Amino acid sequence: MAERILVTSALPYANGSIHLGHVVEYVQTDIYVRFLRSCGQDVVYFCADDTHGTPIELNASKQGIPPEQFVARFHDEHQRDFRDFDVRFDYFHSTNSPENRQYAEAIYGRLKDAGDIDRRDIEQTYCEKDKRFLPDRFIRGTCPNCKSTDQYGDACEKCGKTYNPTDLIDPRCALCGTPPVRRNSVHLFFKLSRHEAFLQEVLKRPGFIHPGLATQLQGFFEKGLADWDISRDGPYFGFAIPGETDKFFYVWLDAPIGYIATTEKWAKESGRAKDAMEYWAKDAPTRIIHFIGKDIVYFHALFWPAVLKVAGFHIPNEIKVHGHLTVNGEKMSKTRGTMVPARDYLEQLDPSYLRYFYAANLGAGVEDLDLNLKDFRLRVNGELVNNVGNLANRALSMLAGPLEKKLAPGREAGAGRTLVEQALARVPEVREAFEKLEYRAAIKIITDIASTANAFLQTAAPWALVKKDAEAARADLSDAADVAYLLGALLAPVTPRVSERLFAQLNAPPLTFQALATAKYPLLDRSRPLGTPEPLLPRLEEERVNAIIKNPVADIPAPGSGGKDKDKKSEKKPMDAKSPESPAAAPTPQASPGAGAGTVEPVAPADIEYADFAKVVLKAGRIVAAEKVKGADKLLKLDVDLGEGTPRTIVSGIAEAYTAEAVAGRRVVVVANLKPRKLKGIESRGMLLTAGPGGKDLSLLDPGDVPPGSEIK
Ligand code: 2FM
Ligand code: ZN
Repeated sequence: MAERILVTSALPYANGSIHLGHVVEYVQTDIYVRFLRSCGQDVVYFCADDTHGTPIELNASKQGIPPEQFVARFHDEHQRDFRDFDVRFDYFHSTNSPENRQYAEAIYGRLKDAGDIDRRDIEQTYCEKDKRFLPDRFIRGTCPNCKSTDQYGDACEKCGKTYNPTDLIDPRCALCGTPPVRRNSVHLFFKLSRHEAFLQEVLKRPGFIHPGLATQLQGFFEKGLADWDISRDGPYFGFAIPGETDKFFYVWLDAPIGYIATTEKWAKESGRAKDAMEYWAKDAPTRIIHFIGKDIVYFHALFWPAVLKVAGFHIPNEIKVHGHLTVNGEKMSKTRGTMVPARDYLEQLDPSYLRYFYAANLGAGVEDLDLNLKDFRLRVNGELVNNVGNLANRALSMLAGPLEKKLAPGREAGAGRTLVEQALARVPEVREAFEKLEYRAAIKIITDIASTANAFLQTAAPWALVKKDAEAARADLSDAADVAYLLGALLAPVTPRVSERLFAQLNAPPLTFQALATAKYPLLDRSRPLGTPEPLLPRLEEERVNAIIKNPVADIPAPGSGGKDKDKKSEKKPMDAKSPESPAAAPTPQASPGAGAGTVEPVAPADIEYADFAKVVLKAGRIVAAEKVKGADKLLKLDVDLGEGTPRTIVSGIAEAYTAEAVAGRRVVVVANLKPRKLKGIESRGMLLTAGPGGKDLSLLDPGDVPPGSEIK
């Protein structure tokens, strides 16, 4: 009997919309599943919403609705987005389900019975006003290392240092701003440290994980694996831990169990298995493959296999890890509008374009993938529309028009037959590339086949030949149609709807990799009439491509317009997240203009019109050189690159907080249209924005990784 394969993608948080960064993983997985199915494999593909944890609980409460209702909205939205991107799960479930509770409780029970759960009294940060323990990401304060203000409790975004929340200077609750206290509470720990030898063995299993990642994970073993805190005190949205009061399973305990719960739900609803254990029992003859992003390797390669082993379940066979998406060469950013919601894309464009582009750029490694919008348009137009699309359209429109939709029988020999046979000979290479997740190699071969077939038509020139020898032209075009049919099969995992259109136009049944394993020339049943040809896909137009990025300025609500969608505000960046416990909307620093070149008096906070704000030109800059101003303790003279060719001289009152060496190379936010003014005899042409009360307590605002000169709106 064929092996049964179970494939999963990581479960998206039910806390925000799916964006094009998420889509990389779902498309990568969906292509693999479609490919396996086309090879005749018995494969199921599962996913679910990841619904528990502090951010979801808080966002729901901010909206004044129960968390169940909050996550239900995203469940519907996520399913629509996946469907419209042609991602076909066999089941899309939720971690907040009876099946997940049942498996989470059963697995926890087994961990406990095995002596793998420890109770420990630990001290944690607690907000007396909000009456809750605060996860690290919900504590803000001044970095103990670089003194930047308003940093998270676990790491400084400015200097990159990691620390404990207790190390923060002047810690505050990110929710209410009050100073938190330390309080003790009993937590339950999974004794991960007992499973080092087992995990080392798993990491060495062939195909389990990319060898480079296995090596990287050695770092955790060198330090000694820490036991894993799997409980959280209420208030928390999650499953109550049996036998405990006001304690809940930490979201990362029950999230992967969601893979099993989804299998159970699917089994019961489809009747295609008795229950989840047909796949997940320790000795089940199955292959379990998880697709994940590089930020959650630790959970899947260490915690998860150890939990499964102790509980007596099947250990995943393969963990396929991909990199993150960048847009136009930069990290996705909500402010720049490049964290594009799936729906914004779908409102403009057919999903096939993006599926193709992602495939054309994906390999088996963990390197990031860049969605450069110009490359996207040029590549898709050049390869998918002009090369593959044109071949099909040229062959079919001539056959359907002057040649009355009739194909020629296969030929004994000749260039056309050779063309088809040589294309067929490359199928094993394409197959191997898909198997190894080297999609870009598969796409390269596919486009080579299309180019060769187009060159064949160019030489055969059936449009001229048809006038002299219609049957010879029919024979050449029929061979070209055979290649188009083959391309339909090879591209079907990547662009299924393009292949469906192609098969319909050829009036031929879907061609699979399984059939191709024994297929021979001619591929098409030449006795069947063709269908009706149409262009497979229109060209990508620049305007439509650019329209997927909505200008963030346009989203600034006009006074009295009621503001933007609240859900979006609370959206988290799952692709970047180390922990799900980041606050939804942490307080932002107050920009203090007082530290700039001019001594601007604080303005009484009165409402201004947007037009007033729009007069201020803010730009991202980079400090290329800095020196102290003689005779002025507070001033630094800076050369700031604003993308204007020559750096500007700006005199800034930040010398008590920063040395000249410390600011050289930093990115800054500059008021670029202030009238120049002289300070200590030096003409200053702009002002840097900072946050904080002043003097030593100042923090330069960082615009993020954008080129100098980028406008800030
Ligand atoms: O990082 C994330 O987005 C998590 N929601 C992924 C969970 S995957 C699995 F373990 F459930
Ligand atoms: Zn608080």
